[in-house]
Amino acid sequence: MKLFSRLVVPLVLGGAILSALSLSYAAGKKSEGASTFMEKCSMCHGIDGKGYEAIHTPNFTDPKWQAAHSDKELMSAIKNGVKGTAMVSFEDKLSHEQMVDVLKYIRSLGSKAKK
Ligand code: HEC
Repeated sequence: MKLFSRLVVPLVLGGAILSALSLSYAAGKKSEGASTFMEKCSMCHGIDGKGYEAIHTPNFTDPKWQAAHSDKELMSAIKNGVKGTAMVSFEDKLSHEQMVDVLKYIRSLGSKAKK
């Protein structure tokens, strides 16, 4: 028992700490687009990205919607807005990198729904 607590416990604890660290690192990298989305887009597109019928925002988690729209189209909507709708231009509100990250985040919502 003594051997157990001296050897095994520190090993298990060390492993747990290491994997927690690497998990939070991966989450930090991925969440750049997610936090932009929550801050600037979720009020119209929904926290889950499913959109609201009442204001005609698309369902980003629908694989069919994802397949019907190219990256170029979506980037243009984010950058220039969609004329005549509530979707405004984010060109002066976000950096190019932030727009790319948020687009990647929108794409990730579609691949999650497929599984
Ligand atoms: C004030 C409400 C509002 C906000 C804030 C908003 N959107 Fe939209 N968005 C809309 C509406 C409404 C549409 C649907 C436009 C239409 O009818 O084609 C839309 C459509 C889109 C589309 C699809 C365009 C297409 O080609 O179908 C994308 C992509 C998008 N928004 C991304 C974003 C991102 C990214 C953000 C945050 C940086 C954001 N939106 C913030 C209202 C909003």
